[in-house]
Amino acid sequence: MIQVKNLSKSYGNFPALSEISFQAKRGEILGFLGPNGAGKTTTMRILTGYMPPTAGSAKVAGFDVVEESLEVRKRVGYLPETVPIYPELSAREYLRFMGSLRRVENLDDRIDEVLHKVGLQDRSESYAGNLSKGLRQRLGLAQALLHRPEVLILDEPTIGLDPAQIIGVRELIREVGTDRTVMLSTHILSEAQQICDRVLIIHQGRILAEDTPTNLQSQLAGAERIRVRTSSDSKSLAKLLGKLPDTEEIKLIEGGVEVSGPPGKDIRPIIARTIVEADLDLLELSASSVSLERIFLQLTEEQNAREDSE
Ligand SMILES: Nc1ncnc2c1ncn2[C@@H]1O[C@H](COP(=O)(O)OP(=O)(O)O)[C@@H](O)[C@H]1O
Ligand SMILES: [Mg+2]
Repeated sequence: MIQVKNLSKSYGNFPALSEISFQAKRGEILGFLGPNGAGKTTTMRILTGYMPPTAGSAKVAGFDVVEESLEVRKRVGYLPETVPIYPELSAREYLRFMGSLRRVENLDDRIDEVLHKVGLQDRSESYAGNLSKGLRQRLGLAQALLHRPEVLILDEPTIGLDPAQIIGVRELIREVGTDRTVMLSTHILSEAQQICDRVLIIHQGRILAEDTPTNLQSQLAGAERIRVRTSSDSKSLAKLLGKLPDTEEIKLIEGGVEVSGPPGKDIRPIIARTIVEADLDLLELSASSVSLERIFLQLTEEQNAREDSE
């Protein structure tokens, strides 16, 4: 379990985190989605007891990360952004080293178990320095699982991996996430949607949104820009679609228009119907995929508007 309340962190005068609050419970995979510099790593370092917050509080597995950081570390598995690997140690030696620091019982058996779990059983004697980035990430995950932690904190676990490795690591996370609390950070929207039960969107040290992947998707449906091309010219098409109640920001493009709808509403069906009813040929009706930047922009604008009206 993770409980975070009004957590803030400043580096000097720079506010990297501003009063963030959230919770995650057992059996839940919580995604922490945000662009570079959003404050993901900062939050995770605080939660794992490696760095104190400037203000606010956090409890992990029931223990305060500042007052009881030793208890927290016993119960947390942490995959940092860059896995600290000793290239001259074999995978097994590395795990033995990490396991003895944490006083894991029956260490050799446990090492075999985790090596198996992450699919490294055949590479146990390889030097960590000779492992590919994907296998090293698996070793990092094995290290995080070694002491059977209640809570797993994974900082961008798929960064730098190739597509096949990404699939493997995502499956592994889902599997190990069934009986613990997992929090993982990512800057990839589709990744958060695929692995997580719930997603927090963080931007400039603030949480902008929190929802299930499905709800976020529909909430953001209107953030898509729809490209429409017909047998008519751009200007008449813009006029025609401009009469619809839900079309916003119509922009003329070569051979057609680009238009967006209100948040949470898919305007493609009504556009298609309008064009067919006007007896025009529909040549293209496509939604550009929502970019994360656009989502952040939209959410930030919504938040500013809310603050202005308060
Ligand atoms: N040790 C540090 N000293 C000063 N600024 C830092 C330090 N670590 C991170 N920052 C700044 O804090 C912000 C959040 O960083 P970070 O938590 O690493 O974000 P993320 O992991 O989401 O990319 C960034 O603007 C970053 O430059
Ligand atoms: Mg980071």
